[in-house]
Amino acid sequence: MSKKIIIGNWKMNPLTLKEAEKLFGGVVKGVSIIKNTEIVICPPSIYLDKLTKVRTNKIKLGAQNAFFEQSGAFTGRISGEMLYNIGARYVILGHSERRARGEGNNNINKKIKASLSAGLRPILCVGEDMRDESHSYFNLIKTQIEECLFGVSRNLISKIIIAYEPVWAISTTLNRKDATANDSREMVIFIRKILSDKFGADASKMRIIYGGSVNEKDALEFLKNGGVDGLLVGRASLNAEKFVDIIKICEASSK
Ligand code: PGA
Repeated sequence: MSKKIIIGNWKMNPLTLKEAEKLFGGVVKGVSIIKNTEIVICPPSIYLDKLTKVRTNKIKLGAQNAFFEQSGAFTGRISGEMLYNIGARYVILGHSERRARGEGNNNINKKIKASLSAGLRPILCVGEDMRDESHSYFNLIKTQIEECLFGVSRNLISKIIIAYEPVWAISTTLNRKDATANDSREMVIFIRKILSDKFGADASKMRIIYGGSVNEKDALEFLKNGGVDGLLVGRASLNAEKFVDIIKICEASSK
C-alpha cells in the first residue's frame, strides 16, 4: 500500500520569493524525521525553480495547474512538460477555484491525460458546492469523476490522486461549514465504488484524500475516520509550523 500523503496547496501565496523560501525552509526543517508520509508542496509555479534547488529528499513539488498542449502559441500557459522539466512531480487539476472560473470537466480531462504523459501525477479535485436533501451531489461527483477520467488508461490510474474537497467546507467559502470525517468517509466509499466500476481492481491502487479547511486540530480525525489516504491542505499550509504538525500527525497515525 502507498504511503499516506499530505499535500500543501499554497494557492496564490505568498507575495514574494523570499517569503516562499522562508516558508518552504520552515517545512524542510520540520520534517527531517518523517519517514512514512509523502509530502508535496504546490507553490505558485513561478517559485518552483528556486524551491527545487533547496536540498531535501522529503518534499516533492507540484504545480496548481498545467495546460494540455506541450508547447506553442498559447500565451500565458505552462505545459506539463515544462513543469516536469523544472522539477515538479505533481499537479493539482480541477480545483474548485478554477472550476468556479469556468474550467470544465472536458478541459480537466485533457489536462489529466497530458500531465500523465508528461510524467506528472495529477491530483484531481472533485467536490460539490452544496449539499441538498435529495442527495443529488452524489451524481455531480460521479459525473466529475467519469468525465475527468474519461479515456485514461488503466495502467496509469494508480498515478492519479483524487482529492475530495466539498466546496462548502473550503476555508475561503463564504458562510462555510465544517465537514465531518463521516461526510468524508461516506463520499470516499462512493468514489471508490465509481472507480472500481470503471477501472476494476486497479482502482484500489488510487489514493483518495480529503481537503477543506483541514488544520492541526481535525487532521487526525479525518485521517482516522474519514476513510482517506491523506489530506490536501490550503490555508494551514501557509504556516510552516501548522503544516509540519499536520504531517507529524499523519506520520503518527500511519504507525
Ligand atoms: P483550505 O483549502 O484548506 O484553505 O480550505 C483547501 C483547498 O482549497 O485546496
